Amino acid sequence: MTATSKPAKTGEIKQSTADEKAAPPKSQPVARVVLVTGGTGGIGTAICKRLAQQGHVVATTYRNEEKAGAWKRALQKEGFTFHLYKCDVADFEDCQKMVKAIVAELGPIQILVNNAGITRDSSLRKMTHEQWQAVISSNLDSVFNVTRPVIDYMLESGFGRIINISSINGQKGQFGQANYAATKAGMHGFTKALALEVAKKGITVNTISPGYIETEMVAAVAENIRNSIVAQIPVGRFGTPEDVAHAVSFLVADESGFITGTNLATNGGHFME
Ligand code: CAA
Repeated sequence: MTATSKPAKTGEIKQSTADEKAAPPKSQPVARVVLVTGGTGGIGTAICKRLAQQGHVVATTYRNEEKAGAWKRALQKEGFTFHLYKCDVADFEDCQKMVKAIVAELGPIQILVNNAGITRDSSLRKMTHEQWQAVISSNLDSVFNVTRPVIDYMLESGFGRIINISSINGQKGQFGQANYAATKAGMHGFTKALALEVAKKGITVNTISPGYIETEMVAAVAENIRNSIVAQIPVGRFGTPEDVAHAVSFLVADESGFITGTNLATNGGHFME
């Protein structure tokens, strides 16, 4: 906006001035503090790398000390510096402490990617209460546990991007995943409700629903089942973690402020709503 032009009133369609049309594009996006939960996994790693490459300061959570140490060292060799925080995202108090520590050390979190998640696949007739509860706590309670302390900082700074990493199986269901599909569908309900609550505060909330991506989670599925799945993907291949990271980088951009409450399918055409 030029110094002389007036802001558009609510409901008024603002005409751009000749000066605005000629204005050069912004050169550099603002560097922000990012939290990616479960960043040491396949999709999480690609998201951390992509956001760091865009100049953001990236923090992530881990549970396994040894795995996290090896991950950090390997990525340091590639030139990345990530900030790791030990946290069980299924535990609300642990999440409150983790968020406080990040804010104290790096600054207010302005981009949050709720990515941590697990599977405990089983048909319902064989599913134990432990299998049900573990998936509900890690995949869905975690979204509340992390977003609740983070939202205060986003509201204070008047800017926020929240991305919930859901799944195609929350949209279409999947044999053997009553627990997982329930959490992934639930995440998008959370997205839509919170998107309404914070829409006027500069904060967007969106879901990404990846299809079958080349990760350890998908590699754990029996080979015959994997072969039958890939045959159902119109693009003809599993997705890559980078495919998901690309969708994240689009939704967290400053320019994406008008996109909120959406569910971005990233599944090679496997399921269309
Ligand atoms: N559709 C219909 N029937 C199926 C079936 C399917 N997809 N899969 C198995 N069955 C049938 C079997 O033929 C068998 O039939 P009979 O009883 O008549 O012989 C029966 O169901 C087997 O049922 P069980 O109760 O024995 O099944 P189980 O408890 O052993 O569980 C399973 C099987 C482990 C769930 C297995 O089906 C499986 O691994 N499925 C794939 C699950 C999957 O896709 N997970 C995705 C993981 S990756 C991920 O989640 C990431 C993401 O977001 C996409």
